[in-house]
Amino acid sequence: MVENRSLYDRASDPVGSTPQARLAGQDVLSVDQFDRELLEYVFSRSHEMRQMVERASASVLLRGAVLTCLFYEPSTRTSASFIAAMERLGGSVIPITQGVQYSSVSKGESLPDTIRTLEQYSDVIVLRHPEIGAAKVAADYASIPVINAGDGTGEHPTQALLDLLTIQEELGTIDGLQVAMVGDLRFGRTVHSLTKLLQQYDVKLRYVSPDILRLPLTLMNQLRDLGVDVRESHDVADVIETADVLYVTRIQKERFTDMAQYDEVKDLYEITPDIMTRAKQDMVVMHPLPRVGEIHYSVDSDPRAAYFRQVKNGMFVRMALLAAVLGKG
Ligand code: NCD
Repeated sequence: MVENRSLYDRASDPVGSTPQARLAGQDVLSVDQFDRELLEYVFSRSHEMRQMVERASASVLLRGAVLTCLFYEPSTRTSASFIAAMERLGGSVIPITQGVQYSSVSKGESLPDTIRTLEQYSDVIVLRHPEIGAAKVAADYASIPVINAGDGTGEHPTQALLDLLTIQEELGTIDGLQVAMVGDLRFGRTVHSLTKLLQQYDVKLRYVSPDILRLPLTLMNQLRDLGVDVRESHDVADVIETADVLYVTRIQKERFTDMAQYDEVKDLYEITPDIMTRAKQDMVVMHPLPRVGEIHYSVDSDPRAAYFRQVKNGMFVRMALLAAVLGKG
C-alpha cells in the first residue's frame, strides 16, 4: 500500500506498538493480519461498541469521515452492517452496492480506476469482489484503508472476526472447544477465514461436506502441519453429539460451473429440531447467512440458535474495525 493520506494519520511503524497503532491507517485484507493480541483488542472494542449502542448513546467518534461501500457481489448483511456501523459512529457512507450495474463499473471501468476515483471522496473503502485477491489489488492502488468484505472464494476476514466473537460471547471461551463446520467448505470463504483464525486457539476441528466440497487441501495441510486435531466426514451425525459449535454454511450455487453437480449436493444437509435433540445442551448453531434450507426454520426458537445474535455482533465488530483503521481505536 502506498502512503496513506486519509483524514487520520497512518502509523509509521506499526511493529511492536499498541493494537490501536497497529491497525490505524491499515488495510484489513486477510485474517492472517490478526494475532491473539489484535483479536483480543477487537473483542474488547466490540464490547464497548455494544455497550454504547445499548445505552442508545449517539457517538461522534467518526464524525466527518466517509466510507465507500463498493460491492460487486450481492450482499445484505455485510453491506448493511458496515453502513450501520459507520452511521452509528457519526460517519457517513457512499453506498455503491446493489447499484454497481448503474455505475461506471458496468461500463468496463477497471478496479484500479474505480478505487482511485472513490478514494478521492472517502476515508475508507469496503470492497466485495468476485475475484480472489481483488481486495489486495485495490489496497495496492488506494492510499486510504481498504477492508476486504469478501474476495470470491478467498477470504472474508470481518465475517470470521464476528464469528469468533460470537463463539467467545456464546460460550465464554474459544480454547478447548470442538468446532464443526458443515456444508460448502470448498467455496465458502467464511469457512476459510474462520479456519485460519481458529488455528490460533486450542480447538478440535471437524469438517462435514460431500467429497466435491471438501476444505481446500492447502488449508487442510496447514492444519495437519500445525498438529491440529482435525477430522473430515460426510455426515452431521458424526459430529452432532460432540460439537460445541455447529457452523452451518450454504452451498455456494454461484460458484458452480456444472449445475448438475450443484443439484446433487444442494439438499444434503438440513439441521432440524430432531437432529438438535442429539446435540449438547450448550452447543451453539451458527451460520453466516443467508440460509437456503440448511437450517430448518423451526430451529430458530431453540436458544442454541445463535445466527441472529451473530448478525448483531457483526455490526459491533465493524464499528470497532472502522474506528481502528481510521485511527480512532
Ligand atoms: C457469506 C458470504 O458472502 O461469503 N455471507 C455473509 O457475508 N454473511 C456467506 C454466503 O454467502 O453464503
